[in-house]
Amino acid sequence: MNEVRRRAMVGWYDPRVLAHSAYLVAISNIFGRHSDTRLIEALASQPQAEFDYSAASGDFWFDYAADTGDGWNSTYAIADAIAQPALDLRRADGTNVTTQAGKLLVFGGDEVYPYPTRSEYETRTETPYRLAFTGRARPDVFAIPGNHDWYDSLVAFSRLFCRPERGFAGCPTRQTRSYFALELPANWWLLAIDLQLGADLDEPQVQYFQKIAARMDDAARLIFCVPEPRWILEDAYPEHSSYNERASTQFLEEQVFKRKARVYLTGDLHFYKRHENAEGVQKITSGGAGAFLHPTHAPATHQLRNGFTQRAAYPDERTSRALSWRNFLFPLLNPKAGWLYAFLYAMSAWLASASLQAADVIDLPTALAAAMNAAIRDPLNGMWLVTIVGGFIFFTDTHVRSWRILGGAFHAVLHLAAAFAVGWAALRLTTGALELHYGSILQLLISGAIVFLLGGPVGAFILGLYLFVSIRVFGRHSTEAFSSLRIQDFKQWLRLRIDPAGNLTIFAIALDRVPRRWRTMVRAGAETLAADDARATAPKLIDVVEVRG
Ligand SMILES: [Fe+2]
Repeated sequence: MNEVRRRAMVGWYDPRVLAHSAYLVAISNIFGRHSDTRLIEALASQPQAEFDYSAASGDFWFDYAADTGDGWNSTYAIADAIAQPALDLRRADGTNVTTQAGKLLVFGGDEVYPYPTRSEYETRTETPYRLAFTGRARPDVFAIPGNHDWYDSLVAFSRLFCRPERGFAGCPTRQTRSYFALELPANWWLLAIDLQLGADLDEPQVQYFQKIAARMDDAARLIFCVPEPRWILEDAYPEHSSYNERASTQFLEEQVFKRKARVYLTGDLHFYKRHENAEGVQKITSGGAGAFLHPTHAPATHQLRNGFTQRAAYPDERTSRALSWRNFLFPLLNPKAGWLYAFLYAMSAWLASASLQAADVIDLPTALAAAMNAAIRDPLNGMWLVTIVGGFIFFTDTHVRSWRILGGAFHAVLHLAAAFAVGWAALRLTTGALELHYGSILQLLISGAIVFLLGGPVGAFILGLYLFVSIRVFGRHSTEAFSSLRIQDFKQWLRLRIDPAGNLTIFAIALDRVPRRWRTMVRAGAETLAADDARATAPKLIDVVEVRG
């Protein structure tokens, strides 16, 4: 069992991850929208019908998990809980309910982090599920892609989920495209939609759902599986045009299925939130199957403009708010981020000091004035500053332009001031305490090394401070201020039951704390891993909603 690689949570501020993510996002934004591989895929693959599970008798159970395939502890903890044959859970009223492992497992998007490659899917997603299902009943697995699956134009995703002869983690797969329809008992239909990277529906997908719609009778009830919670995003970021095009699901409801969906399921945001409107339509965001936690307190989503009201959230807002303090530990949580700041600070100090004479550095105000003068007069120096400020503006929360410019510029100035302070301290130390001659090679090399060494932790701390203020005071940077925390706890998924009367009950199940340690065990003659951590918590019910048939 030693060969299993137990990966840590993705370090989103690791310069290599940052650079590669930026590259993939740029590529997929530039080319992805023009070369839609769904088209090629659909044309090349076998015609896909709906997958029929309607004949099942008794209670029909299935699981829905989204945003999985990050660190080992969180991903495997959820996989292991899903695979257990039955879970006894306590309802809010004190009564118990026994939930059964699903006949189906539906992945709701973002099946791997940070980017989709064969080996990342293998180590971060498939291996945990293979071990979890060892010696246990294996469900049929279905999946739709999220943005992280789309970054390689679905090449690795298709290999894993769209080749029935291959299967996933030892479980059967049946779909041949990135979207599908499931006919469930009691005339419930689950329609899983691929919206690419915020793009619209492609023609083969529309035709597919038109064929499915033709097979439905008037009493059919719909569950939509979508890649992102546009009902939250369009409310939180109304300025952002792509979230305003509800065209895709609205189009499907009005033009294709000629009825409204009763339930929407999605991931993308890594928490649990349930919204409901006056008609009882449920819109559920459930992205807690492995990836870092998103905050539930910001942006606020209690009352959405589209008439939906928040009925449940996990973790609760108090917990979420308290967790944001961890940004003060940013340098410890993201040690590799320091390299970037070490480089930025050392370069800034180098350029600032290049044109300063001994007389310019007698005291702090004189040195500052001389450095600013040099920044304006020396083109290279000035270009460097413009690049830094521009870079920080680029990094800042992309949804509101004014916040982006103000926040980004302020953040950049903070770092430049800190770089100057660190450079000044290095200068004082080398010329004062070490009594080196200003401008000598030794003095310049030692002060350069000091700036490089201090720049990492100081820069990383300032970034943490900036993220803390952004999320706590302004409710901005919700993703950046929580991806930095790499929180593996507060994980959850959905277990759904259709009873013989046709009622659909949705159980949201959570693990407050996932295990950190595991031990090898044998189940049904095969080796697997079991939790070995007394501090880990058992699965618990966080919300139940019944949708009457
Ligand atoms: Fe995600």
